[in-house]
Amino acid sequence: MSSNNPIGIFDSGIGGTSIWKEIHQLLPGENTIYLADSKNAPYGQKSKEEIIALSCKNTELLLAQNCKLIVVACNTATTNAIKELRAKYDVPFIGIEPAIKPAANQSKTATIGILATKGTLNSELFSRAVQTHHYVKIIEQIGHGLVPLIEEGKIVSAEMTALLEEYLKPMVDANIDYLVLGCTHYPYLIPQIKKIIPDHIQIIDSGQAVAKQTQNVLKKNNLLNSSDETKKQIFYTNSDSKVLKDILGFTENVYEKEF
Ligand code: SIN
Repeated sequence: MSSNNPIGIFDSGIGGTSIWKEIHQLLPGENTIYLADSKNAPYGQKSKEEIIALSCKNTELLLAQNCKLIVVACNTATTNAIKELRAKYDVPFIGIEPAIKPAANQSKTATIGILATKGTLNSELFSRAVQTHHYVKIIEQIGHGLVPLIEEGKIVSAEMTALLEEYLKPMVDANIDYLVLGCTHYPYLIPQIKKIIPDHIQIIDSGQAVAKQTQNVLKKNNLLNSSDETKKQIFYTNSDSKVLKDILGFTENVYEKEF
């Protein structure tokens, strides 16, 4: 495997671009290929078997483009499928887990909130994380409807505000001081969320930790790209590319493709 090969990144849609941005910022010398499986979003309501099948399909597409490492930029796909992906494919995988540990360790009220999909909150990996951090109270909330609205480009909308108020107000009333965003789509909601929750509540997502972990794994495997060639950042979506272009803030190398 050559270190010039790209890093592959996939998500159930456009949300994983929040992870791509962190990776690109930390590792600007890497080529990347991003797959937005928006046609099949949201993954959060699907069965474990369906999530594994979609994750395998995405992985095979990225491997066909010679990706040297794959970032599963989707909490639902990580919590339901990463074990199977690691067993099936001979390439390093980086997954996304909700940042419960830093929130639990820093909480002064011993109460934290987590907003995530049903698929993530019902997973075995998540229930293990809850057991490990039994010394804090964890208020869980499924973000029903949030991913579809983000995929439709309705981040700032009356529907979004109504859903966020419904989901976040009980957490505020329960005295959380940390809010964990357990879905890679949700960092795009931070400006909206900040209008609803008080300033003292810290919002945590996993983006920077995942970028650092990607760097560490590349280094460990001697796969950091040190060539002088011009680097390429390529994006594919199996849906209308407008929302992906809008969220990225550019249109270059963003393609629609059947997969
Ligand atoms: C979803 O597709 O339901 C959300 C993706 C995620 O969990 O990050």
